[in-house]
Amino acid sequence: KEYEFIKVETKGKTGVITMDRAKTYNALCNGMIVELCTAVTAFDEDPAVGAIVITGGDKVFAAGADITEMVGLSFSDCYNQDKFKDWAALTRVRKPLIAAVNGYALGGGCELAMMCDIILAGDDAKFGQPEINLGVIPGWGGTQRLVRAVGKSKAMEMVLTGSMIDAKRANWDGLVSRVVEPEKVVETAVALGNKIASMSRPSVLMAKEAVNSAYELTLTEGLHVERRMFHSLFATEDQKEGMAAFLEKRKPEWTHK
Ligand code: HXC
Repeated sequence: KEYEFIKVETKGKTGVITMDRAKTYNALCNGMIVELCTAVTAFDEDPAVGAIVITGGDKVFAAGADITEMVGLSFSDCYNQDKFKDWAALTRVRKPLIAAVNGYALGGGCELAMMCDIILAGDDAKFGQPEINLGVIPGWGGTQRLVRAVGKSKAMEMVLTGSMIDAKRANWDGLVSRVVEPEKVVETAVALGNKIASMSRPSVLMAKEAVNSAYELTLTEGLHVERRMFHSLFATEDQKEGMAAFLEKRKPEWTHK
């Protein structure tokens, strides 16, 4: 499939999507959002792929929504089109999504990273929600996901002042899972993707679903969901294989069934 704003490739069992609009720091124009959602959905449906990486490459992740597309919008343009609903496709993806972030992840770029399941950062990465400088507020989940990631006080300071945090702070605050050298970010993300893709598919999908339940449910409901999923995995061949392989001191051979 031909894309205008992104590049798409498969590395091992990991689907890699690279945003490719360097001149505007990968500003997320409407076309790029549609392409990102299309590519992610295609990888989600591809049985040869077990995990998906989204990156902007070695220099920049994304400097946010394309301001040139928003400057002239009226309230009714915004409301009637509701362009931003397209992002729902990303949150419906069942396979793990890894954001590999170098350089700026600002506004919608930071929000895109936070829509992913794991964020890996280069030590040059910078995260921020600068919308307040434009007379607006985050609109793709920044006021919600950032609070859950770093807590209210830190999120409030970032959202109210537009100030950025560097990779070290983002790591310390729990926004990212790990920080590596900038030129290693994408390969580390791909290695992580391939490691996840080498596990039994049903347990990976259920593990992601169970962890995400922690965002949506009460503890009692979440524990209930987890326990039911745990029980249901005993209906898989991979559970028998995984436990037998451990006892026989050999590597499991997953059938993903
Ligand atoms: C459109 C953008 C852009 C953006 C950068 N550019 N960010 N174009 N939308 N979000 C363009 C610049 O206009 C410029 O184009 C080129 O990219 C290089 O940017 P410079 O500013 O010249 O580079 P530099 O001085 O290095 O500063 C980099 C930067 C800065 C810190 C990333 O560009 C910046 O602050 N960008 C805006 C970040 C932002 O406010 N993001 C939030 C957007 S709102 P020319 O043609 O001059 O070379 C948002 C809300 C989402 O994301 C949710 C609701 C819709």
